Amino acid sequence: MNARAAVGFEPAVEAIGLRKHFGPIHAVDGIDLAFTPGRIYGLLGPNGSGKTTLIRLLAGLARPSGGEARILGLTMPDRPTLGKVGYMPQAEALYPDLSVGENIGFFAALQGVRGSAAIDRSLDLVELGSRKGAPVLELSGGMRRRLSLAVTLVHEPPVLFLDEPTVGVDPALRVQFWGHFRKLADAGTTILVASHVMDEADRCDELVFVRAGRVIARGTGADLRSTAGTDNLETAFLRFAGLDDAGRPLDAGRGPDPEAAP
Ligand SMILES: Nc1ncnc2c1ncn2[C@@H]1O[C@H](COP(=O)(O)OP(=O)(O)O)[C@@H](O)[C@H]1O
Ligand SMILES: [Mg+2]
Repeated sequence: MNARAAVGFEPAVEAIGLRKHFGPIHAVDGIDLAFTPGRIYGLLGPNGSGKTTLIRLLAGLARPSGGEARILGLTMPDRPTLGKVGYMPQAEALYPDLSVGENIGFFAALQGVRGSAAIDRSLDLVELGSRKGAPVLELSGGMRRRLSLAVTLVHEPPVLFLDEPTVGVDPALRVQFWGHFRKLADAGTTILVASHVMDEADRCDELVFVRAGRVIARGTGADLRSTAGTDNLETAFLRFAGLDDAGRPLDAGRGPDPEAAP
């Protein structure tokens, strides 16, 4: 509460000592975060570092082993709050035999969206309005990613979790996606985007680096570069992870102090 008063806003997304264990695996190992509304946060980290697990905990799709996840001040999982969350999973969750319109209609109904205006708006946003009747199995990979995004946005959630949304997406579409993300953030949506693509990191307002279930650094891209003493974000990431430029553990065993980041 005091921390909240000090920063002067109610965080849209909060993790407080958040943990998730799968048997001996500490997928999320004590994470504290507070996200300001209307900003884009990048969640970066190597495969297996706990990005997807963290997102699922924050989005209320998994129960923590310890600590707490809050969305708009409410402890997750919380059924009514699920309607305030958009979650684009890493793996596609579409029905291939159903049409574009039937797919988005199904998810809209699940979210209690009535009428077709919201559906048409979401499809138009990702330029799939003309493909409403097409079966999903006839769509290209990029079109399916666009439909996944439309499905995620149909109920206009104030908090968005996007798990590697641009994997398998060509550069032109990637730029379009980031244009959408920025517009949504400008309108007040809080966005957490997991990625292991460093060139996407610079499109975020703030970055959170995770490794082995822990936050090893956070700040703006510029902060992190200057703390790590490099102008290359990928190198900065390796430094924070305590690795040399080839990804091998440094002899000293530790990178720059993440606490030093402003
Ligand atoms: N349902 C699960 N059961 C057991 N282990 C899991 C499960 N989900 C994730 N893990 C493990 O937790 C760790 C973090 O995984 P994940 O969150 O998917 O990482 P990332 O998204 O960064 O690649 C990995 O070691 C992974 O194998
Ligand atoms: Mg993942």
